[in-house]
Amino acid sequence: MNSMKTTRQIGILLSGRGSNFEALADSIDAGRIPNARIALVISNREGAPGVEKAQKRGIPTKVMPSKGLEREAFDRQVAAALHDAHVELVCLAGYMRLLSPFFVSSFPGRILNIHPSLLPSFPGLEAQHQALTYGAKFSGCTVHFVDENLDAGPIILQSCVPIRDDDTAESLSHRILEEEHRIYTEAVCIVLEGRYRTEGRRVLINK
Ligand code: GAR
Repeated sequence: MNSMKTTRQIGILLSGRGSNFEALADSIDAGRIPNARIALVISNREGAPGVEKAQKRGIPTKVMPSKGLEREAFDRQVAAALHDAHVELVCLAGYMRLLSPFFVSSFPGRILNIHPSLLPSFPGLEAQHQALTYGAKFSGCTVHFVDENLDAGPIILQSCVPIRDDDTAESLSHRILEEEHRIYTEAVCIVLEGRYRTEGRRVLINK
């Protein structure tokens, strides 16, 4: 990705609360992610609180219900909307839907996801609950490039969060979420600035 000083267009896909979207929007507003704007927020679920948060900030939104639609047919609609908005980097922010190979190849190396565990441990739903009940002593969060498998692409950044004896899924989720917001901003900067190279699955970051 080039690093010319043009404004970089980010697209957000979400399904729910939207705190990671808000963290990215706050980082852009505060200049922590320079030369970028969120061009479009798409939710695949009606009533997702993240959509209202985007509307309040004056960010264009689209609600595109995915229920009952075949995966690739739906993804073609989403990709078209993102292309129409000139999106170059897609950030999944609590987007609870697997992407089709078609969608992944539409934005090669330009789709990021945040997941609330230290991948490859605890992919899928309720990752914080999984870590707690497994008895792990540490969990955390991961920002990774997205491929067509669940929570599986090359890892860009991780942050480790110790699990306390008195943790509940809620208290652990809360501490992990603070780290999610921090490393998602950092990862978006790294990718937009092209400050990395890949060796196989390894994403090596230029300091
Ligand atoms: C976040 O914890 C995110 O890491 C997780 O969903 C939550 C969304 O919260 N994503 C996944 O589990 C993806 N596999 P948010 O809507 O407040 O950003």
